[in-house]
Amino acid sequence: MAKVITVAQQKGGAGKTTVAAHIAVALAQKGNRVAIIDIDPQGSLGYWHRIREEKFGEGYTGLIFNSLSGWRVGSEVSRLRKQCDYIIIDSPPHTETEARTAIRSADMIVIPVQPSPTDLWATKATLDLAKAEKLPVKVVLNRVPPNSRLAQTIAAELPELADTILGNRVLFASSLMEGRTATEMEPNSSAAQEIKALVKEITAVLKDDDDEEAAPQEKTSKSAKKKTLVTA
Ligand SMILES: Nc1ncnc2c1ncn2[C@@H]1O[C@H](COP(=O)(O)OP(=O)(O)O)[C@@H](O)[C@H]1O
Ligand SMILES: [Mg+2]
Repeated sequence: MAKVITVAQQKGGAGKTTVAAHIAVALAQKGNRVAIIDIDPQGSLGYWHRIREEKFGEGYTGLIFNSLSGWRVGSEVSRLRKQCDYIIIDSPPHTETEARTAIRSADMIVIPVQPSPTDLWATKATLDLAKAEKLPVKVVLNRVPPNSRLAQTIAAELPELADTILGNRVLFASSLMEGRTATEMEPNSSAAQEIKALVKEITAVLKDDDDEEAAPQEKTSKSAKKKTLVTA
């Protein structure tokens, strides 16, 4: 049964689509069957996927792509869960109902945050949604310039912060232009290494979830841990 990762953040331009595409491909490169669902009406992930198919042919990475409106996400996720190892949902900014549906369907939430006060403030709403569903969260500082003092100040304010920080790197954008990702275009680049490290963190959280299912006697302590994670 697939694990569902929703990339969410109220603030537009935080890096949701960039992070969703990169996580999806990195997981597929590890041999997983991955589906991506775009519920953002802007359809950026869909554009990316179309370029990918036009350039490299259908089924290039084995990503299953779906674009749909938020209210259908629940039924689509149930259908895809049986076919995949991971489902990545890219969600729209500002539309709380849609984001809520995408968060409800998830096993984990990834929240990209750029080192800016407005990104920081917008993050609280998304964190609250995840907390209401008692879901594990990774807040990911994204597009961080080198030696940014502001980024450090903002990091100090953020709960559930991932150890991995994504730098401000042209490859994150230029690879998407080509319908690919950093890990495909330049596997040894800093951008690619950051994504691989992030995916490692994400799969570790979801694996922890699996252990919990496998060992119900440990459930209480693990659930308690999960709760601390979302409320800390
Ligand atoms: N780590 C990064 N380094 C450089 N550019 C980035 C990075 N993350 C995102 N971007 C750029 O920032 C813009 C917004 O990113 P996007 O993924 O579209 O955000 P969202 O989906 O949250 O609106 C895009 O132009 C994207 O190429
Ligand atoms: Mg987007």
